[in-house]
Amino acid sequence: MDLVKLGGSVITDKGKVTTLRPTALRRLAAEIAASGRDVVVVHGAGSFGHIKARKHRLNEGYVDDGQLPAVSEVQRDVRTLDLAVVDALRKAGLRPVSLPPSAIARLSDGALRDLDIDVFRRYADLGFTPVTFGDVVLDDRRWFSICSGDLLMLALAQSLRPRSAIFVADVDGVYTADPKRVRAAKLLRAIGPANLAAVDVGGSTAHDVTGGLAGKLERMIAVARYADACLLVNGLKKGRLLAALRGKPVVGTRVRP
Ligand code: IPE
Repeated sequence: MDLVKLGGSVITDKGKVTTLRPTALRRLAAEIAASGRDVVVVHGAGSFGHIKARKHRLNEGYVDDGQLPAVSEVQRDVRTLDLAVVDALRKAGLRPVSLPPSAIARLSDGALRDLDIDVFRRYADLGFTPVTFGDVVLDDRRWFSICSGDLLMLALAQSLRPRSAIFVADVDGVYTADPKRVRAAKLLRAIGPANLAAVDVGGSTAHDVTGGLAGKLERMIAVARYADACLLVNGLKKGRLLAALRGKPVVGTRVRP
């Protein structure tokens, strides 16, 4: 069993509200299918979630009634994206089943309190491809919260102990600085608690309501504790996800616990 997170920055255009990147999505779905591995797919929300969630401060939980229509709308939008992911996986020949966190997860003060892992396990055992995604979910303390795909990756890794946990992003891996701004930024072949300080995490939070790069690195390192291999690869480059799933050498960053 392997866990794959399709980052919102790869399958959507993060700068344009509710905009899919259909070509990347189609290819990644085909790579998952071609691997022949049993995969549980988690996907981010990208521009189907972050833009409106940020505008209405949904990551802070309940602030005022004005947020409530936005909770409903963002849930609807992320499901629209999820349908596109499910369709792409079906066209690639898999049998995806969608498990929306709004229906099967509960948070408490932003931390995952409850997730019905057995549903994932059961569907996977029956030969289906479970799919879940970043969503707005009930929160015991805040009424509602954002449940990110990374939080789901951690909970799933803890319970399912995958062979590999692969984070698919729009960059080649983790760099010493933001490669989109800093020309001298260097790709790190491995990252872990030992060299975390080598990464300049500033300024990567533009549209992100779930913690930016610093939070992401922390959660990836946590996931790495429960998988034989944990990797970050570029999903915009053909064949990298497939190579990672096959356990072949690939350009990317290995994440160490
Ligand atoms: C965010 O999920 C969920 C919402 C904003 C509703 P993620 O944090 O996993 O999404 P990406 O991968 O960063 O887009």
